[in-house]
Amino acid sequence: MTMRKSSLKAAHKLLEQSLLHHSGQPVGTVAALDPALVAPNYAECFIRDFVPSALVFLMEGKTEIVVNFLRLVLDLRAQQPIILGHERAPGLMPASFRIPNDGDDDDMPSADFGDRAIGRVAPVDSALWWTLLLRAYVNTTGDIALAHSREFQEGLRLNLQLYLKENFETSPALLVPDASFMIDRRMGVHGHPLEIQALFYGMLFTTLELLLPGPENDHLLAMCKKRLQTLRSYVRIYYWLDTQRLNEIHRYQSEEFGHDVTNVLNIYPESIPDWIDGWLPREAGYLLGNLGPSRIDFRFFSFGNLLSILFGLATSPQAEGIMNLFESHWDSLMGEMPVKICFPAVEGDEWAYTTGSDPKNMPWSYHNGGHWPCLLWAFTAAAIRTGRRDLAKKAFSIAASRLEPDEWPEYYDGKRGNLIGRRANLRQVWSAASLIISHHLLENGSTAAGFDFFAIHDETPQNALSLKQEKQLQESGTFNLVMPRDRKVS
Ligand code: GLC
Repeated sequence: MTMRKSSLKAAHKLLEQSLLHHSGQPVGTVAALDPALVAPNYAECFIRDFVPSALVFLMEGKTEIVVNFLRLVLDLRAQQPIILGHERAPGLMPASFRIPNDGDDDDMPSADFGDRAIGRVAPVDSALWWTLLLRAYVNTTGDIALAHSREFQEGLRLNLQLYLKENFETSPALLVPDASFMIDRRMGVHGHPLEIQALFYGMLFTTLELLLPGPENDHLLAMCKKRLQTLRSYVRIYYWLDTQRLNEIHRYQSEEFGHDVTNVLNIYPESIPDWIDGWLPREAGYLLGNLGPSRIDFRFFSFGNLLSILFGLATSPQAEGIMNLFESHWDSLMGEMPVKICFPAVEGDEWAYTTGSDPKNMPWSYHNGGHWPCLLWAFTAAAIRTGRRDLAKKAFSIAASRLEPDEWPEYYDGKRGNLIGRRANLRQVWSAASLIISHHLLENGSTAAGFDFFAIHDETPQNALSLKQEKQLQESGTFNLVMPRDRKVS
């Protein structure tokens, strides 16, 4: 048997062994099957970790587990603990759930809304992933009746009520606390992290498709549409970094007042980090990690960039630029195990104040510049969507040669990802699921059954939008976005 075949067989076996049952029905997959788990909650089903498993199931016609999961997570919402003086929004979905008594009886699975997690983080991404998965399920099976059922309509409405609720926002991007998504430890990713913006965009898009108009929903749907447009323009313009944009920032005036200013967020050019000088090739670019008042996080976060390609949030030229960046910096962004989660790592004092001196997030480890095989599926999908099959194939071969012999580590350490993560679980399920998805995508292109429906194709112009066009899009929005003069979204 070739190495590739044996790896795929082993990946399928791990996925099968990871199944969780409730009342005799498959409802999810555990995060890891390592007999020496790093933390007890890896034996639970995480919402975000289940997504790659679900994509494999959809691609392979095993749709039942996906619908069971969607229903269960919706029901689990009701389990939110009531904490006096701190009532959680009803739209929040759990980070994970566990099945009591091995699923032998009808006890309801027990959901964790962050209270069992390290650092007690609220899972902002869960309801976003749930909505995207619902769309993938509906599109794959044609079961639109499910999305139109009373419970699911209520679920979608609660999502919008929570995610569109105005708090202290001044931009169309969603404001979240640190560690509220895949990066679930303190990493300086509070504010407006790109990954959340991409997922938020995907959720808004999906909800417009699935939430039915009617007196209860019309106002929400109108807001949803406007937010989608403003978010899209905002990310495409302000998050984008290429050499032209870097030059602009380098020469920014600061302390400008009024509506017609260029440096809207009052970014000080002095905050540009040294490492970016000479790092960005001319033909490449990427979406920045985070944006806020006087704050650009220049770190390159792979998942947010890949999801932006997949959901059509990045324009086509931007998507090409991102892929070019991967190609030019292959050694550091892919190295010996795709894909590096973020580049560069924070080190020294910056590590201490960004992570709270977290030893798990030492430089070039775990969330702080580690390599995560679970991101391979998103890389493969984004590469294929951008016409870069060559890069997808290369990444797949690297991963396929190491993952099985290394026993499916959760993450790898080192600048080039050459070491198995110091505290990585082995037999991590989304590492295996990711390899299977990539294989299906390479075999069948992005039309692989189940997958085509995960990617979002919107109808806005995918090529350069002029300032005028963006402004036209903005005019229907609530956010009075001031465009930098004469700039094009490439
Ligand atoms: C870690 C990851 C998180 C994942 C969980 C279970 O906490 O940071 O993204 O969901 O492990 O695998």
